[in-house]
Amino acid sequence: MLGNFTYCNPTKLYFGKNALDGLAQELPKYGKRVLLVYGGGSIKKNGIYERVISILKACGKEVFEDAGVMPNPTTEKLEEGVARARAAKAEFILAVGGGSVCDYAKAVSVSVHYEGDAWKKYFIDFDEPTCPTLPVGCVLTMVGTGSEMNGGSVITNHSEKLKIGHVFGEEVFPKFSILNPEYTFTVPRYQMISGIYDIMSHILEQYFSGTDDNTSDYVMEGLLRSLIHSADVAAENPTDYEARSNIMWTATWALNTFVAQGKDTDWEVHMLGQAVAAHTDATHGMTLAAVSLPYYRHILPYGTAKFARYAKAVWEVDPAGKTEREVAEEGLRRMEAWMKKLGLVMNISELGATPEMLEGIVESTLVMEGGYKVLTKEEIRAIIKASY
Ligand code: NZQ
Ligand code: ZN
Repeated sequence: MLGNFTYCNPTKLYFGKNALDGLAQELPKYGKRVLLVYGGGSIKKNGIYERVISILKACGKEVFEDAGVMPNPTTEKLEEGVARARAAKAEFILAVGGGSVCDYAKAVSVSVHYEGDAWKKYFIDFDEPTCPTLPVGCVLTMVGTGSEMNGGSVITNHSEKLKIGHVFGEEVFPKFSILNPEYTFTVPRYQMISGIYDIMSHILEQYFSGTDDNTSDYVMEGLLRSLIHSADVAAENPTDYEARSNIMWTATWALNTFVAQGKDTDWEVHMLGQAVAAHTDATHGMTLAAVSLPYYRHILPYGTAKFARYAKAVWEVDPAGKTEREVAEEGLRRMEAWMKKLGLVMNISELGATPEMLEGIVESTLVMEGGYKVLTKEEIRAIIKASY
């Protein structure tokens, strides 16, 4: 049964080949002093930087740059960004990049006017902002995280060996996001397929939870079928606009909080993947791919009916003559074959995890309570071991 909820998603989206026109419509609503946040330079190579700058100038903005946001943005970079935003007296943050840049922009937004330790407040204590926040807008260049239409912000603290996400409320969602599928054509293949798996994982984290009859589960089965189809097309031809636009839209739906309303969710794959990343700094979607099957095979006995439903609805497993358990297991086998064909990394050794890291990764893994089995430390250790 659906639980009670209040739902609002305040992010305005501009989608398609002319989406950047939306930037000129939105910018006049915000202050003159803009902090332009971006990553390691891809936007300078593919021309997006030039186009954004010319719109900012045409709108009469004073632009202050904060470049070099790394994949898996760090606490050190966050401190640097806060200092830049303060020095600039920024009134608005424009994030141009992937999930890391969007997440980082939100973290700066909630920290600029907070005098204490932002890492502790937001990522250890999970407090909500008690200070004014800066509005954030986003021009998305890499697809997967859903950060363009949610309040999520994930920050890595290397000295504490923790990678933690805070899901902020409506106030921190981007005010608007510009989604042009063509901007994703230059994303390297490794990042493209990593992003595709991130989308799949977001859907599965919300699907493999609860035993009720829930509209969201039917929606998610549809999203998964579309994603698998478009991923196969994009893997053959990365500049297929139809496929890339469907993948972009599926990513947004997967984690714009819509399908989670009124239902239980899990998120343990992300906890395992983030623990791996805290020790290896590996690419987000690949960490999820590497731990997913050991985790799902471990919890399958506790949620067999849902895994069997997944096998039939998403992977078209014919149940004739098979037990529910056999159907469920065949679904995971088909998923595994598809993941390998796509080129995902299927073990954490390839991501740089060494045997010496095992206990540290176990320690860094947070335990969630919404899945089919609340994991003990021993179970986490067994799943991580099986992921090597
Ligand atoms: O830094 P640049 O030079 O821009 O290069 C980036 C980066 O190296 C490159 N790239 C992005 N757009 C490109 C491009 N290269 C060529 N052409 C383009 N158009 O791609 C690389 C990866 O970018 P990144 O932003 O790190 O990837 P992604 O979007 O996967 O974001 C990952 C981060 O988001 C967090 C992850 O944990 C990770 O820190 N997540 C955020 C979530 C949220 N806000 O809700 C949820 C997710 O589960 C995830 O945890
Ligand atoms: Zn993710």
